[in-house]
Amino acid sequence: MRFGHFDDAAREYVISTPETPHPWINYLGAEEFFGLISHTGGGYCFHRDARLRRLTRYRYNGLPTDGGGRCFYLNDGGEVWCPTWAPVRAPLDRYECRHGLGYTMIAGERDGLTAEILYLVPLGTNAEVHRLRLRNRSGRRREVQVFSLIEFCLWDALDDQTNYQRNLSLGEVEVAGSTVYHVTEYRERRNHYAFYGVNAPPAGYDTDRDAFFGPGRGWDHPEVPFAGAARNSRASGWAPIASHQVEVSLAPGQETDLVFVLGYAENPPEEKWEAPGVANKAPARALLARFADSAAVDEARAGLKAYWEGLLGTCRMRSNDPRVDRMVNTWNPYQCMVTFNLSRSASYFESGIGRGMGFRDSCQDLLGFVHLVPKRARERILDIAATQFPDGSAYHQYQPLTKRGNHDVGSGFNDDPLWLITAAGAYVRETGDHSILEETVPFDNDPNDTATLFEHLRRSFHFTLENLGPHGLPLIGRADWNDCLNLNCFSTTPGESFQTTQNRAGRTAESVFIAGLFVHAAADYTGLARAAGKPEEVELGASAAARMAAAVADHGWDGEWFLRAYDYFGDKVGSRECAQGQVFIEPQGMCVMAGIGLADGRAARALDTVRARLDTPHGLVLHQPAYTRYHPELGEITSYPPGYKENAGVFCHTNPWVVIAETRLGRGERAFEYWSKIAPAFREEFSEVHRLEPYVYAQMIAGRDAPRYGEAKNSWLTGSAAWNLVAINQHILGIRPEWEGLRVAPCLPAHLAEVEVERRCRGAAYRIDIVNCGTGAAPQVTVDGHLLEGTLVPYAAPGAVVAVRVEV
Ligand code: GLC
Ligand code: GLC
Repeated sequence: MRFGHFDDAAREYVISTPETPHPWINYLGAEEFFGLISHTGGGYCFHRDARLRRLTRYRYNGLPTDGGGRCFYLNDGGEVWCPTWAPVRAPLDRYECRHGLGYTMIAGERDGLTAEILYLVPLGTNAEVHRLRLRNRSGRRREVQVFSLIEFCLWDALDDQTNYQRNLSLGEVEVAGSTVYHVTEYRERRNHYAFYGVNAPPAGYDTDRDAFFGPGRGWDHPEVPFAGAARNSRASGWAPIASHQVEVSLAPGQETDLVFVLGYAENPPEEKWEAPGVANKAPARALLARFADSAAVDEARAGLKAYWEGLLGTCRMRSNDPRVDRMVNTWNPYQCMVTFNLSRSASYFESGIGRGMGFRDSCQDLLGFVHLVPKRARERILDIAATQFPDGSAYHQYQPLTKRGNHDVGSGFNDDPLWLITAAGAYVRETGDHSILEETVPFDNDPNDTATLFEHLRRSFHFTLENLGPHGLPLIGRADWNDCLNLNCFSTTPGESFQTTQNRAGRTAESVFIAGLFVHAAADYTGLARAAGKPEEVELGASAAARMAAAVADHGWDGEWFLRAYDYFGDKVGSRECAQGQVFIEPQGMCVMAGIGLADGRAARALDTVRARLDTPHGLVLHQPAYTRYHPELGEITSYPPGYKENAGVFCHTNPWVVIAETRLGRGERAFEYWSKIAPAFREEFSEVHRLEPYVYAQMIAGRDAPRYGEAKNSWLTGSAAWNLVAINQHILGIRPEWEGLRVAPCLPAHLAEVEVERRCRGAAYRIDIVNCGTGAAPQVTVDGHLLEGTLVPYAAPGAVVAVRVEV
């Protein structure tokens, strides 16, 4: 069952009923101001930091799930309804939500009156613009009252939900013209305020929530719009809101636009006031003036379109399967940009008050956007590297505003440092910019302790080598990629962190996954060492990788698959000797991706085990059998009910590793099958099972051990976005930047018969025609009519257009 459809030409997902199984959201903003918006107008916005500069309030764990947001109540001759359906939920004759690239449009129609709201954050502004377009399609004049409503958050979203004894006495607003200004704490230490204005003279306004709602009422039935009269209330403490009442009279066929601006403004401390006690409104007025008419909104929308077309033009494809095209062209890179902008901070599963940026998460996210925004990727790499410790280890998280490591979580996740190498490798392969390796970067943000970026990478690499366990495999520390495999932790107290509680500092627990990752990263490391002119590190890297692969062969192989780990006691994890958790996906994917076992057949056997033991119609589960009871010696992984999250859920981040691994064996059919099982566009047709947005990847789909098997959770901010992009673009389509050229080595399923890809790289454009004859023979590549030996297309000069033809 579908709840909408893709409009590929417009690059929109069109939702045709407000009653989706969960709020289906989109993101507004690409720079400093962001909004989350659901298909019924729910959500909130913030400036830069979702916790500390939250403009509007949102109730996680609310009921209904998605109450509030940006509301427009229409009182049409006594009948009150919302174009977004919610929160009033009066039946509509027509409803449609279009989530597009950086904007959302929601339209409702009732009794011949249509209301269409366009929501966007124009480039270069710190504001959401809401344009309400009313059209009278009936044969009679309509007198419509529009009541807007947003509820302010008292800035710090965590404090806002907890510190009522203080906060309920703080709220302050000013009203000037058609704008409500939220000035709470502006009298003291804040130099910023929020505002909500409209480009029409209001008949009234409200700024006090309780006056607007009336006693005991919720969002679905506030008194003011039902009574048809604003109360001109003035908030003083309690809960400040902004609501305008605008009277609209429409002749038959007539249409009118109202432009609302929900913005954020800052003043220099010495220019805070325009009169004693009166906030300086100049920056707000400038922004309101910019959107005084509807044409400015059209212009902003065109600007956004050009911005996104420019970015996503980096890689474009056309094939006979529109589901592939829409993932590759639009939704997957779009999601990757959202993970770039938001990391893991704010979604409908991340509350925006929690964790900072993850070291490994940010490094992996980069793999999905480095080709889109290489300059910003460069900065990101340097920021991340600056949080590294001098011994090569890393803080697990850092705070985006201060860019400092997070002491609460600390370090000791021993895979972290290696991801920095993969990120730097991806950047240099994409851009050819070796100069980044020479950049001076501090350790732990200490300006007195600095080294080149290459030296940081060297220490990352050597950190693994200096932290090997009894079998010559890397020590796992607090956890590796699987945050929940906590082999040194032994937590038995409810509520404490599984990761940072370490009551046994062991040097026995080893990770085969990190061993695979080390070999995988070594390919980038040796390439980077060559680029940096360090021949000794090239050699050392290659021989260390060979030794690690040998250690995996000797101690990391369980007979038919790669072992997962050795625990604190030296017992095997992910072995046929285990009662549960016998086979894990991570080492199979990562070791084969790294090339381990390709020559001796173990790679194929490992992947055949994945096929036999982990494959399900909804994707590959993390391990089998699922754990049915808590094991302190394994940690959080066994805390989840079977089939959810790290306990044998379909963790979408790991599936593309197996996809890539399958392409290493040339098994394109299987690779594609695995990818398509979790790719949202392919899951659209059973949205009632999947339940989340059919246009973005989710972190997890419940595995077959779970009662709600097939149901997705945690959409948008997940490493699944980047890795699936790498899998489909670089390994199924097979187009990937390498050190000396663009590799064009497709590994396609038979049904993708003809594929055209345009890829920009290092300033040149490659027009790649892939003809898939399905013969299984090695690809034949011609470049500008000349047959190549192999599949590596040499980089062309910037500005060049290169015609590539591949026969597979
Ligand atoms: C989450 C974390 C990520 C971790 C994964 C598996 O996605 O953000 O860092 O690798 O879970 O535990
Ligand atoms: C990751 C995992 C999650 C776990 C968390 C702990 O996000 O996905 O299951 O609770 O790490 O830090």
